[in-house]
Amino acid sequence: MRVLASAPAKIILFGEHSVVYGKPAIAAAIDLRTYVWAEFNDRGAIKIEAKDIRVPGLTVSFSEDEIYFESDYGKAAEVLSYVRQAIELVREEADANGKGVTVSITSQIPVGAGLGSSAAVAVATIGAVSKLLGLELTNEEIGKLGHKVELLVQGASSGIDPTVSAIGGFIHYEKGNFEHLPFMELPIVVGYTGSSGSTKELVAMVRGTYEEMPEVIEPVLVAMGKIVEKARGVIISDLDEELRFAQLGRLMNINHGLLDALGVSTKKLSELVYAARVAGAIGAKITGAGGGGCMYALAPENQSEVATAITIAGGTPMITRISREGLRIEEVLP
Ligand code: PMV
Repeated sequence: MRVLASAPAKIILFGEHSVVYGKPAIAAAIDLRTYVWAEFNDRGAIKIEAKDIRVPGLTVSFSEDEIYFESDYGKAAEVLSYVRQAIELVREEADANGKGVTVSITSQIPVGAGLGSSAAVAVATIGAVSKLLGLELTNEEIGKLGHKVELLVQGASSGIDPTVSAIGGFIHYEKGNFEHLPFMELPIVVGYTGSSGSTKELVAMVRGTYEEMPEVIEPVLVAMGKIVEKARGVIISDLDEELRFAQLGRLMNINHGLLDALGVSTKKLSELVYAARVAGAIGAKITGAGGGGCMYALAPENQSEVATAITIAGGTPMITRISREGLRIEEVLP
């Protein structure tokens, strides 16, 4: 038996950084996917083939405590620890610890860009392997297992990324609670700077400024929280599409300005944001921790012009939309 599952990337639409201070945030799944094939092997080992994870391809095998790398590419190795944990967790859940499982991964999601590639690979792996082992899990349950994988690999996590990747659509997050918002189309362009900021360092930098001048930073965080609540109101409203896009675009621009005020933008990120706006995007902002990574632009009329402007400004554009679906079982072969 062979199973193919896929899971989407995510972007934070509103509320990064302020979410660390207990304010709400809205994230959404986007139509860039990681695909995982799972099948049994008779060696009793976990074998992971990463054919294309947007870093050079490599094959890695685990057997008991030994790890065999055919090549070692730093970022890829990090992704693979999520895959291994995901397989081990599902084998435990299914009481199938000694079963040999081979997974083969291909991905459209760049690694280390703040788009949730690790969560997507964990969720797709859990989806494929649980189906292979005959476990009936809901997408919500798979999101929770994905959160467990993150906790095991990285020690701390809000769980936003695996939840969004498993469930899809829009998620409003506040103090550990997730709310699935109604779906709406959002034609966007993601612009990747090509470099990645360290989420840990950026969060610490904002914390430093906050502690130094709380009376200045607190109102910025409060305003960011209010932006999220306004955006939630727009998403759940029955306003017509044009008006909703216009309001979300303005909120994106204000949120970007506040993130810039916190010091998490870079010259390159701001250049991509302004290039997108000049090319006709209704709104554009950083998504995620900043310091590199990605921005996104809302461009209902002119996605390809905005993508070209991002390329000219030195970024890598990805034309995409919000993915209604999260984890998907694509194929089950006998
Ligand atoms: O770029 P990402 O997906 O790592 O987003 C980080 C979001 C922050 O709010 C900056 C940190 C956090 O833990 O929520």
